[in-house]
Amino acid sequence: MPKPVATGLQLTALDPAFRENPYPILKDLREREPVHNDTELNRWVYTRHQDVNEILRNPDLLSDPRKARPGTFSREFLSDDDREPSMLMMDDPGHRRLRELVRHPFKPHAVEAWRPRVRAVAEHVISQIDEPEFDVIAHVANPIPTVVIAELLGLDASCHDQFKQWSEDMISVAFNPVNSEEQLQTAERAGQALDAFFRNEIQNRRDQPRADLISEMLQADVSGDRLTEDEIVSQCNLLLLAGNLTTSDLIGNGIMALLQHPAELAKLRANPELMTNAVEEVLRYESPVVNSGRVAHMDMEIAGHKVLAGDSLSVSLAAANRDPAVHPDPDRFNIERKNIQLQSFGGGRHFCLGAHLSRLEAAETFSVLLERFPDLAISGKGHRYAANPSFRGFAELWVSAR
Ligand code: HEM
Repeated sequence: MPKPVATGLQLTALDPAFRENPYPILKDLREREPVHNDTELNRWVYTRHQDVNEILRNPDLLSDPRKARPGTFSREFLSDDDREPSMLMMDDPGHRRLRELVRHPFKPHAVEAWRPRVRAVAEHVISQIDEPEFDVIAHVANPIPTVVIAELLGLDASCHDQFKQWSEDMISVAFNPVNSEEQLQTAERAGQALDAFFRNEIQNRRDQPRADLISEMLQADVSGDRLTEDEIVSQCNLLLLAGNLTTSDLIGNGIMALLQHPAELAKLRANPELMTNAVEEVLRYESPVVNSGRVAHMDMEIAGHKVLAGDSLSVSLAAANRDPAVHPDPDRFNIERKNIQLQSFGGGRHFCLGAHLSRLEAAETFSVLLERFPDLAISGKGHRYAANPSFRGFAELWVSAR
């Protein structure tokens, strides 16, 4: 009898084997049960690129977890049913309205204008490293996205550390189906603190608008429709939660992939114009968000299997990115890979709003780091992956600058 395929928590970073290397486990699942009925976490799991792509882009499927049946995986994401939902968890028409009101500053040309500021943040943060051996997560990957998003929101530099702590406390429960009571309470306190903090920042900008994202959200007007204060607070929270950890993971994963593949690193050092494609390959090779999801709006057939209204559909972005049907030799890290068809930013109506920003942050960070440390290498002090179920990234990654 062959071993049963992995299921439930074995398909999350809470399991040590999956946390260290999820790819053989996902490959096995894709080959043997590409549509997997996970009865432990109450969800369907899809691992083929084509199925993931179609599910994410199916406009009829839902994203609001309150529409999933109680007890399903999607429903368990909800820690507090009363909180104003963010757009990530909304359906039309509410989703379309909110996205329209906040999307403009995230368009590619608007984000491109931030490049010099992002580079300056990367230069400043990296210039403070003075040890020959350091944890690149604590010193580079964690601070840069927080400082960038805090600057974009227009927050004072003195509150950046506090800001990072609150966002970490919240994210540790936000996508975790098995939270402890203590984790939930810490997150609840962080959520309340952030809420009060943002309301205060909004009030300051009502009195005196500035050139920042909170002021832009206050002024956003689509045919007379405006964001309410609750909506602005909720969007600020989403930008923090959706933008910080993910981009930190992208940066950490990218540094590791480059250092583990010296020939690719040498190619990039010699040809900096490969940077854009190198970032795409990092996103494909090590997707910072491992899975996303939808909810079935009615009884229907998906990928050849019947699902019921309210079922939770979990798509493995990490497995899709490594599907050999689309990406030949998928386990090879190749910064010159052609025709990368990423699933890492999700798709369809909910396609990541921060995709351009995070690509830019990663590119500038890699570029500054490689310039500053010509002999960067993995250090003997090792690494530790974080145990966030829907994410893949390092809690610690030690490097030496020699
Ligand atoms: C490498 C970094 C990032 C990754 C891998 C990532 C990934 C994702 C994924 C998978 C989704 C869900 C898409 C879906 O379900 O179809 C998403 C949504 C979202 N992301 Fe990102 N994200 C990243 C960075 C950011 C940043 C920097 C921001 C903002 C500052 C951001 C803002 C958002 C927002 C607002 C949504 C919800 C969009 C909607 O519901 O319409 N993300 N992201």
